Amino acid sequence: SLVDKANYRHFMAKEIHEQPEVVGHTLARYIDMASERVMLPVKLPFDFKDIQRISITACGTANYAGYVAKYWFERLARIPVEIDIASEFRYREAPLRKGDLAIFISQSGETADTLAALRYAKAEGVHTLSVVNVPTSTIARESETVLQTLAGPEIGVASTKAFTCQLMVLASLAVAAGKARGELSDEDETKLVHGLVEIPRLMAAALTLEPQIEKLARDISKSKDVLYLGRGTSYPMALEGALKLKEISYIHAEGYAAGELKHGPIALIDENMPVVVIAPFDRVFEKTVSNMQEVAARGGNIILMTDAKGAAEATVDSLVTIVLPDMASAFTPMVYAIPVQLLAYHTAVVMGTDVDQPRNLAKSVTVE
Ligand code: G6P
Repeated sequence: SLVDKANYRHFMAKEIHEQPEVVGHTLARYIDMASERVMLPVKLPFDFKDIQRISITACGTANYAGYVAKYWFERLARIPVEIDIASEFRYREAPLRKGDLAIFISQSGETADTLAALRYAKAEGVHTLSVVNVPTSTIARESETVLQTLAGPEIGVASTKAFTCQLMVLASLAVAAGKARGELSDEDETKLVHGLVEIPRLMAAALTLEPQIEKLARDISKSKDVLYLGRGTSYPMALEGALKLKEISYIHAEGYAAGELKHGPIALIDENMPVVVIAPFDRVFEKTVSNMQEVAARGGNIILMTDAKGAAEATVDSLVTIVLPDMASAFTPMVYAIPVQLLAYHTAVVMGTDVDQPRNLAKSVTVE
């Protein structure tokens, strides 16, 4: 059944491994394979041409999915996006323009702060769209538009498959927005859709790196602190990597934009604090390499998550490289989520923590 561990030791392991399949299901709901076009399952009650600004609000891992989506909406559709933590948004009284769009992301659809933020936005007269995994949830019921993730039940407290399914929905929506606003041509759309269609296969390929990551986790488990760095869409992935690690292994971790290294975290670099660098060979790769050189020059140990091209270009000392499949598209976060999740998972297993039910955390935070 969907809610047993099958032959896995933890729900989290099962849910990590399910991702190619459930992200594939989600993709099939949002993409028309025959015409190679994005095809949303519902008709939007607004035109993206009329949207001047999008506000995205969520908590925890869902917030990082929103942070990745900010880059996509801005890049592909040229819509400015504000990303917010729900507990801040709800009390900040952020001015919203009537007729603009507010997006809420939630696995459970019951997170109290996200729900309160949704109610605030509705009262302000903006269009509300939620990306939720539970279609009967309160957030789904109260939103003007609901886009469902087809992750299936997620049992592990630390979100994994819901996150990558959220990314798939948001990527599709960003392409639809770019198309509606005339920022993307038919040809651009076809190319982007090809990129999305490849994702499940690339995720499956990334899962084959598990033995290497399991070995690496033994070293990570000896650390007191771990730093994650990334630029562009890999910046929210660095935040997510650090969150996952601290949630389930209880090792302190921080995620930073690689370019901010010299404004603080560089003071912490020594041989005892591993630095996980998430850097696909993309338009900001070279910039991240120079940050890696700054880390290496100070005796830091780097774990680089990149692709074959990146691995060939990154000439830095004391480097462990995790080589992911090459990908042509801008949708790397869905694939890089796999090693990020596996590293946290295996570190927690080495530490012997209660992986599926980490101390002090709840799957769904329905009280403030
Ligand atoms: C809790 C969970 C996280 C989750 C967050 C938001 O903190 O432990 O895994 O990301 O809530 O939950 P939601 O259901 O709104 O996505």
